[in-house]
Amino acid sequence: MIVYYYSATGNSLHVAKMIAAGMPGGALASMPRWLEQPRPATGEDCLGLVFPMHYFGAPPLVRKFVEKLEPAPAAYVFAVVTCGHHLLGSALHQIAGLLQDKGKKLDAGFYVDMVSNYIPLAQLPPPGRRQDRLAGADEKVRQIIGAIGNRAHIIEPEYFRWPCQAISSYWRNNLISRAPTRFTNSADCTGCGLCAEICPVENIRLESGRPAWQNHCQECLGCLHICPAQSINFGRTQGRTRYRHPEVAAAELVRGKAER
Ligand SMILES: Cc1cc2nc3c(=O)[nH]c(=O)nc-3n(C[C@H](O)[C@H](O)[C@H](O)COP(=O)(O)O)c2cc1C
Ligand code: SF4
Ligand code: SF4
Repeated sequence: MIVYYYSATGNSLHVAKMIAAGMPGGALASMPRWLEQPRPATGEDCLGLVFPMHYFGAPPLVRKFVEKLEPAPAAYVFAVVTCGHHLLGSALHQIAGLLQDKGKKLDAGFYVDMVSNYIPLAQLPPPGRRQDRLAGADEKVRQIIGAIGNRAHIIEPEYFRWPCQAISSYWRNNLISRAPTRFTNSADCTGCGLCAEICPVENIRLESGRPAWQNHCQECLGCLHICPAQSINFGRTQGRTRYRHPEVAAAELVRGKAER
């Protein structure tokens, strides 16, 4: 079985690692890397997609990945969406629709509430609350592993999926293209290059030792959270705590580094 992941700040990578480790023969593969170097389908009987919710839906990179993926006809396909709060979402519905377009079914789909890394909107919860939320997330992932092991057919409900889908598609079609213009970089930048290394779509070029954002940003905020100097800002993020899942090392977030 193979678990494909996309992760900016480690939540989805942590979940993908737990699932791969909890299943016999579980392998991990990075979606951004696969999109750069597509590998032929190897006929896995079980295939997982683990990724964050972005603007109430599936990130564009994940949609593109699913559009290109060719699961084996009999493969069991599941999706796990990590998020801040799962109540408002359409990600599972979107993935099911993309799979249906190619005659495949989403067999199981789950949400895992973790810590929201969207700090332009709100400050992170305090450390104790973060710890509690992540412990609760691990418990939910253990239940998901049990369900996947039994090849359960469960798709968690998305009660408000139509408005969520509308917002998600408005963001993808109208707002995301403006993201690169919203980044600023302060004089604290040391020119270390980590932001460029971490970007899942090579959207950052170093020019005279400073990051320059190109025009195909996914707004994943990986660059902002990883910057050791905290010199990157996006909207109202000045002074807000940066985030990375405590069990994921910065180096693992570089495209494909956590594959196994
Ligand atoms: C652009 C963007 C939009 C987001 N939108 C939502 C959202 O609609 N609902 C939600 O619960 N969390 C939202 N989040 C928070 C992430 O889904 C959450 O922190 C996720 O677990 C991050 O996973 P990662 O660490 O693997 O990148 C958003 C984050 C980003 C960067
Ligand atoms: S990660 Fe931060 S310090 Fe390093 S080059 Fe990027 S902006 Fe500068
Ligand atoms: S530039 Fe930053 S926010 Fe945009 S895709 Fe790259 S890492 Fe993500």
